[in-house]
Amino acid sequence: MSFKYRWNRYNNRRLNEKEFKKREITLRSRPTIAYIDPANACPLSCPLCPTGNRSSKDPRGIMSMASFKKIYDQIGPYLYQLHLYNWGEPTLNKALPEMIEYAKRLYNPKIVISTSLAKISAELAETLATSQANLLSVSVDGIDQATYEKYRVGGDLAHVFKTLELMVAAQKRSNKKCPIIRWQFIPMKHNEHQLEQSREKAKALGIDFRVHRVRLQMTNFDKPGDNQQSQDVADFAPTDEKHRRPITPLTPENPCKWLWNRVVYDWDGRITPCCNVQDRNDAFEADINVPFLETWNGKAYRDARNIFHSVRTEGHSVCQRCVDNSGVL
Ligand SMILES: C[S@@+](CC[C@H](N)C(=O)[O-])C[C@H]1O[C@@H](n2cnc3c(N)ncnc32)[C@H](O)[C@@H]1O
Ligand code: SF4
Ligand code: SF4
Repeated sequence: MSFKYRWNRYNNRRLNEKEFKKREITLRSRPTIAYIDPANACPLSCPLCPTGNRSSKDPRGIMSMASFKKIYDQIGPYLYQLHLYNWGEPTLNKALPEMIEYAKRLYNPKIVISTSLAKISAELAETLATSQANLLSVSVDGIDQATYEKYRVGGDLAHVFKTLELMVAAQKRSNKKCPIIRWQFIPMKHNEHQLEQSREKAKALGIDFRVHRVRLQMTNFDKPGDNQQSQDVADFAPTDEKHRRPITPLTPENPCKWLWNRVVYDWDGRITPCCNVQDRNDAFEADINVPFLETWNGKAYRDARNIFHSVRTEGHSVCQRCVDNSGVL
């Protein structure tokens, strides 16, 4: 990694922060964080996730290595963080290790992967545990099968624990400290009593542990007054207030940073402004062949940034609906 490259990346980040502060509409800087989804299919059926509850009607697919390179070659030089997951199970993509290797070799961003480990082979699990990724976050929301599968419907907890053991052992054999393997626990009504036991179990396995607060509006974040939301709250909201996610409305004083410093690519190269958006009709760009900068400063992004100058976008914009519905992040 040359000094010149690191210097350019650093300057881009500084410029990006300045442009965000000034709420610039057309940016000279590029995003510093990206989400690229290797696969939006998933073997599990988590009830709040639009992939899991099948409310998302988008076609399911696996990103090709060629598409990954086309995207990464344009945005990679500016990235500090690359998240290789979004709306599915990234380990369904057999090219995942190759994507990590390519991304690291070229520009060395911090790579984060979130996985349920459902259906993963021992071979792929060991490969990931000894890869150059920085963080493998494993979604495990319970300590026994009955509790775990209330949210991770279709998941096999014994398989997850066995796989985690294999991963830790592979990492020990290779004398590596990275990637960090982290148990991510989402406290919900049915599992919050298992939080401390899960923390202990993570310790016994020799892995990291983190609490992640539940989102109850994952499917309907842009639909005000949806009845499903109150059902979700009744079914899944944790009793302990500290595990509930505060919602701070998005306003010109509290703008959505995603529109300035991040970008999200679906498996087919479609660009959406953030991780909430899963309907392909809400894409800011659907064609992977359009050069990134054209989209980044195109009408959809400019209209969305303008919302935070109190200019309503009367056209179709998921961001306007999101802000009208008080914002979700
Ligand atoms: C849509 S998943 C895709 C990656 C992978 N399938 C997984 O579950 O880890 C992305 C992230 O959302 C998290 N997630 C799922 N349901 C959630 C919820 N209701 N609230 C907050 N995070 C959630 C997952 O645990 C994961 O970290
Ligand atoms: S495992 Fe991840 S992608 Fe699959 S249904 Fe659950 S949250 Fe959604
Ligand atoms: S949909 Fe909402 S959270 Fe997502 S980028 Fe737009 S304003 Fe931000």
